[in-house]
Amino acid sequence: MAELVIVLVVVAAAAGLLRWRRPAWYWVCFGAAFASVRVLVRYTSVMEACGLTVPPPRWRLTLARMANRPFPEARSPRILCLRPTRTGLVLRLKLRPGQDAFDFSAATDRLRHSFGMYAVSSREVRSTIVELRMTGYDVLDRVRMPAEASADSASPLRIPVALREDGAVHYRDYRSVPHGLTLGATESGKSVYQRTLVCGLAPLDVALVGIDCKQGVELFPLARRFSALADDPDTALELLEALVSHMEDVYLLIRAEQRTSVAVPDAEIAADIWDLPAGLRPTPVVVLVDEVAELALFATKDEEKRRDRIITALVRLAQLGRAAGIYLEICGQRFGSELGKGITMLRAQLTGRTAHRVNDESSANMAFGDIAPDAVLAAIQISPDTPGIAVAGDTTGGWARIRAPHTSLRDAVNLCNEHAHRTPDLPALAPFRPVATVPSSASVPLTKSASATA
Ligand SMILES: Nc1ncnc2c1ncn2[C@@H]1O[C@H](COP(=O)(O)OP(=O)(O)O)[C@@H](O)[C@H]1O
Ligand SMILES: [Mg+2]
Repeated sequence: MAELVIVLVVVAAAAGLLRWRRPAWYWVCFGAAFASVRVLVRYTSVMEACGLTVPPPRWRLTLARMANRPFPEARSPRILCLRPTRTGLVLRLKLRPGQDAFDFSAATDRLRHSFGMYAVSSREVRSTIVELRMTGYDVLDRVRMPAEASADSASPLRIPVALREDGAVHYRDYRSVPHGLTLGATESGKSVYQRTLVCGLAPLDVALVGIDCKQGVELFPLARRFSALADDPDTALELLEALVSHMEDVYLLIRAEQRTSVAVPDAEIAADIWDLPAGLRPTPVVVLVDEVAELALFATKDEEKRRDRIITALVRLAQLGRAAGIYLEICGQRFGSELGKGITMLRAQLTGRTAHRVNDESSANMAFGDIAPDAVLAAIQISPDTPGIAVAGDTTGGWARIRAPHTSLRDAVNLCNEHAHRTPDLPALAPFRPVATVPSSASVPLTKSASATA
């Protein structure tokens, strides 16, 4: 008996310790089982308390009256399945007549308290079926991507980049959302997000092109995996114009391969690079721009001309790049009309929106004002203590809070070096190939020997 008590005390202490230090492990070992039992036991009373039941149908009332039996109780939605996941529970419900999915999304906060979960969100799977996704702990506190989240071969440019608040993985899919815009105040986590993206892209067959006007501090350490890099607006202009000419070459290739005769079935007519046979297909290019405002600001007349040419090139890439496999990923603190003409036109082409913490409503409006007004408020409410948390729009027009894993520069450099052999040589971009692939410069050994002789 005493042994049993000791074992129980040790298990309880271990559970408490895990819950405090490693909530994810606690969830897998204990939390999921406890929470499943709790949800099932409390289900009927919680649904009733949250007003999610419907009165019994008339025929049952009449039957009860005729048989002189007690009146039947109000009915809760039927549970279709309750599935524990790595981060929480998924509860699928079949709605009763008269209920709608909005009842559930309006009650998520009440459900969260009643079931004792960390967060609850609801979505309609299809007509009459609602899914409640519950998380058992704060999954965004310390983000760990699930091992199974990796780019799959069916959609080669779909990269797991962050974790969503409901525990699902947030993907950046370049084929369905070709161009993206990431906004956020300084120190809000934009560069870490972009670095995580580079780490996701590094093992794939893509060419990476970087423009980092912060003297290249973010992207140049990753140079071995980049086919072209620019660290000042002058080089950026030449690089963007080279990309535009690369795009024109790709279109010529597609044109040459477009075997359009009456005998060719519709599905075989090539209209973008993905329709070309794999052997002929040009490598897709992802263009990452950090601190985009540096490209759009000017002080002199000459700089103004350069700025106009840069924005024109970016707009052309955004408008025509998709079919040629050129994708833009733009990061900045603000991206509005105060940066001059052409900016709002460029912004309209950037479909994928992500906003990290912003300081004012107008910055958040630049990301979401035109697509999801309630996401604007969510972006302003992000606390400065949690860098990396962002609001991301998704393809359905909805939005979710996400956080990328904290990828350190060291990890990113190691990964890029490991995959350096995949860096394709694009002839049009050859002049911009970073030279850092050979040990950076003679200055380092020189200073060493100088200090040695001193
Ligand atoms: N996803 C994240 N998880 C944890 N910490 C983060 C995350 N993203 C950013 N940070 C922290 O915030 C700091 C600033 O991030 P950074 O990406 O450089 O901001 P920005 O580029 O927006 O100025 C980083 O040094 C890091 O410590
Ligand atoms: Mg930055």
